Amino acid sequence: MFYRPQDGHGLPHSPIKAIVAPRPIAWVSTRASDGTLNLAPYSFFNLMADTPPQLVFGSTGSKADQRESKDSVSNIRDTGVFCVNIVPQVLRDVMNVTTAPLPKEVDEFAKAGLTPAACEAIDCPRVAEAPASLECTLSEIIRLEGEANFMVLGKVVGIHMRDEYIHDGIFDITKVQPLTRLGYRDYSYVSEVFSLDRPDQS
Ligand SMILES: Cc1cc2nc3c(=O)[nH]c(=O)nc-3n(C[C@H](O)[C@H](O)[C@H](O)COP(=O)(O)O)c2cc1C
Repeated sequence: MFYRPQDGHGLPHSPIKAIVAPRPIAWVSTRASDGTLNLAPYSFFNLMADTPPQLVFGSTGSKADQRESKDSVSNIRDTGVFCVNIVPQVLRDVMNVTTAPLPKEVDEFAKAGLTPAACEAIDCPRVAEAPASLECTLSEIIRLEGEANFMVLGKVVGIHMRDEYIHDGIFDITKVQPLTRLGYRDYSYVSEVFSLDRPDQS
């Protein structure tokens, strides 16, 4: 089949997020300017460059108690920093608690029973239970076409990895088992890995 997005797909649910899948999940932690801690998952997320490391996540839609977007984007706009935490599949239910559109005054770390730890390079909380966390400074927030669509670009200025996941100098993703988002209500996680040499490397 072929369809143009503006014409509709004729299917029970939009397939676009099942086509662009799996997507890694940025568990974005921030602190509001009044000190409230915030945590939410974002799967419109990826690494865009590695030297220096730069990443992006996308926010779609807005909350009634925010000016034009969601708590995460608003806090990042106000403070200029955020932390991206990796979600292991064992924390999937805890992650799911943090997606609720709670009033901006609610501390989502407390709500989910997670431990906020201080970041090293920025004034922001990170998830102590996460296998890895990326401390970021805001580079740019770009407004995208459509209603309340924003792209948040950040530069990674500090990287945490829990030592138990580093084996023989490798961050062992088969032990981390990062949760990934598919289409519909579906998720998956990484449990198997294989390597390929590039033609110019063999
Ligand atoms: C796995 C998962 C991925 C999500 N990805 C996104 C996303 O990429 N962009 C977005 O705007 N909302 C996404 N959401 C919904 C947000 O988590 C939700 O709107 C949340 O309440 C935003 O919280 P905040 O206002 O504290 O930032 C996702 C939810 C889940 C469960």
